[in-house]
Amino acid sequence: MSFDLLVKGGHLPDGAVRDIAIKGDRIVAVEPQLPEEAGKILDARGQLVSPPFCDPHFHLDAALSYGLPRVNQSGTLFEGIALWGELRQVATQQDMVDRALAYIDWAVSMGLLATRTHVDTSDDRLLGVDALLEVKKKVASYFDLQIVAFPQDGYYRSPNNVKNVERALDRGVDIVGGIPHAERTMEDGRLAVIAQCEIAAKRGIMIDLHCDESDDPLSRHIETLAAEAKRLGLQGRAVGSHCTSMHSMDNYYAGKLINLIAESGVAIVPNPLINITLQGRSDTYPKRRGLTRVPELLKAGVTVGYGQDCVLDPWYPLGTADMLDVAFMGLNTTLMTSPPEMRATYDLVTINSAKLMRLEGYGLEVGCKASLVILEANDPVEAIRLRANRTTVISKGKIVSERPSARATLHISGRPNSCDRRFLRK
Ligand code: FE2
Repeated sequence: MSFDLLVKGGHLPDGAVRDIAIKGDRIVAVEPQLPEEAGKILDARGQLVSPPFCDPHFHLDAALSYGLPRVNQSGTLFEGIALWGELRQVATQQDMVDRALAYIDWAVSMGLLATRTHVDTSDDRLLGVDALLEVKKKVASYFDLQIVAFPQDGYYRSPNNVKNVERALDRGVDIVGGIPHAERTMEDGRLAVIAQCEIAAKRGIMIDLHCDESDDPLSRHIETLAAEAKRLGLQGRAVGSHCTSMHSMDNYYAGKLINLIAESGVAIVPNPLINITLQGRSDTYPKRRGLTRVPELLKAGVTVGYGQDCVLDPWYPLGTADMLDVAFMGLNTTLMTSPPEMRATYDLVTINSAKLMRLEGYGLEVGCKASLVILEANDPVEAIRLRANRTTVISKGKIVSERPSARATLHISGRPNSCDRRFLRK
């Protein structure tokens, strides 16, 4: 049997050493040793071979806009929203398409091959919606893009968002979104969550709400989302993003809430880079981290996946499209430093996110889509520590990105002439 592509001898995330054979856009064999009969053979010995990174929370309509029309001086979520409102007035559809495509090039080069992006529906022209639907079509052969109709200015607080969310979904947007903590009152937020869950149930689509992105321990819209998901049978199709208020809740209520979330089948998407920089802004000292309760959620059996949220936009002046940056920040800020917790963190930017995004054919098993990443690392934990170089990225059977080794050449007498910072365990 001849394969199109053979990836030889890579270390899989579970530690097994395997050859992976690809024919067309699918993985057709995974064995300790396969015959070297293929159109192309990639030597992955000593490298980590992983399923691709997935980002379950992003804003492509704003990405790579840093400085347009000005920078966020206070660094707060609220100034970021105001600034986005200014940018939205002057950005053209073509600007958004160009920035999104440039960002997706970055993502692909970092082994990130699937992103769920929210798109603001607050402007009646729906330029962002049309831009991202166009981008989705353009990149479909190598990048999976899911789009969420996101009423940034509030579902009820903004005059036309009730209509605009439906208009966006009618145009082909995949998922219903919301931002209950931005409504005028807690009660409006609760009613918005109920209305959005009913849209998801009626249309048979997924729901993904920005939920309680706040330091206010009384912001509890995730509770309504979980209860409504249960009532309407949205288990496995509903996501609460951010949930930073859970950081500030008292332990008794948080414990009860986590059990409800687990029971409801709602998945949680924290965004470590953004949560650590936007939350705690009104604190003096100590400053809260603002990240939700990741280890406790995982322990209760909740599906948790880390998102990136922002790269070079009104809310975040940094970012590289690297989900290993996200994992690194998440690992540090949640104190998940034991070996099993560090290993679990890698799943938060790969298989967990793929699961909550309901990606078809994700993984390294026979029959899965032939999408994978080869990294210069011994294992997943080392990949996080090094934010390891991605030497080769394969999407749906095709090599889409290659990058030479990150190894440095040293010029120090008496020392080896090359250094790649891997940790050689004794
Ligand atoms: Fe977001």
